[in-house]
Amino acid sequence: MTHPRNVALFIGAFVTLVTSLLLYFFSVIPAVKHWQILLLVLFIASTGSCYILLSMTLYKQLDDISNLLRPYKKKEPNPEHNEYINTTDPIVRIRKELSDFAVQKQREIEELKKLETFRREFLADVSHELKTPLFAAQGFVHTLMEGAMDDIKVRDRFLQKAAYSLDGLNILVEDLITISQLEIGEIKMHFQSFDIRKLTEDIFEQLEDAAEKRGTRLKFNKYAPKSCYIYADKLRIGQVVTNLIVNAVKYGKDNGTVIFSYVIEGDSVLISVKDDGPGIEETHLNRIFERFYRVEKSRSKDQGGSGLGLSIVKHILEAHDSKITVSSKINEGTEFQFRLKKGKVINEKG
Ligand SMILES: Nc1ncnc2c1ncn2[C@@H]1O[C@H](COP(=O)(O)OP(=O)(O)OP(=O)(O)O)[C@@H](O)[C@H]1O
Ligand SMILES: [Mg+2]
Repeated sequence: MTHPRNVALFIGAFVTLVTSLLLYFFSVIPAVKHWQILLLVLFIASTGSCYILLSMTLYKQLDDISNLLRPYKKKEPNPEHNEYINTTDPIVRIRKELSDFAVQKQREIEELKKLETFRREFLADVSHELKTPLFAAQGFVHTLMEGAMDDIKVRDRFLQKAAYSLDGLNILVEDLITISQLEIGEIKMHFQSFDIRKLTEDIFEQLEDAAEKRGTRLKFNKYAPKSCYIYADKLRIGQVVTNLIVNAVKYGKDNGTVIFSYVIEGDSVLISVKDDGPGIEETHLNRIFERFYRVEKSRSKDQGGSGLGLSIVKHILEAHDSKITVSSKINEGTEFQFRLKKGKVINEKG
């Protein structure tokens, strides 16, 4: 309806009607021989000039506004968008374009607000996490300087504690660097085929002492085949499996069992780490992969966690085009699962 052609037709008809009424009123029409031609010419002239005027002024301005919006238009095809982009009515088009633009900008503002909150929280978390071990180490060094150094026993104990705090700080900084490198894609994955069972056996061995302290048994699923080749970055997947098993031992129950499973399903292998610990409440489940997120801040702090482990796990698996999932039942246990590509069997003896 608001197309310039329709508007011009409407104005043309209106002008012709008013003029013919006036001419009739002043008795001009009956006096003119071919008054119909006169009215037709009047209609064509007024419609034509109106159309040209509208196209050159108002609609030209609207087109300019539409062109200004062009760089901000969404790239992805949107059927609703196409519906009006094809319309020749400039007012309909610009109205839809403007509403689309407003929705898009609103979304961007919300996204930016979220990022800003995230950035603020992240900065607060990092400073807090860095401050704790740094403060502890600083305290020990100052106490030593203030005289505790003279007593050899006290000196050794304090130096050991300071070293422990600084080691923790080092792990934290390394974890943070790993996460940021994974996020910006700076760490390239080195894909190769390797036996996941063999890798996990080595990890079980490394974690034997920690598991023994809690009386935890580390086991393979009894149906798991004797070997299973996957195609992935061996070092990084080692990190994933270690993080998950360490968590299962740390947050599992005393004298519990941790079961590592892998099942070949078509072209992929489904891997899982399951414990029979106290489990994680539903409300925390989808947050545990966030940086610095700990379910029970005080409890996991006692156990030395900074809440970065699962975030690293998630990033590593994303770099493998995979996703980690978790399921948990209170007082029954927690299971983490992920899928990796099946690898080529390598004869390692040869
Ligand atoms: N198997 C599990 N059972 C119960 N809770 C768990 C389990 N695994 C993780 N969690 C909870 O999820 C939180 C986040 O785990 P994550 O590994 O990211 O951090 P962390 O272990 O506290 O620290 P980090 O791994 O950096 O040393 C933990 O603090 C813990 O509360
Ligand atoms: Mg952890």
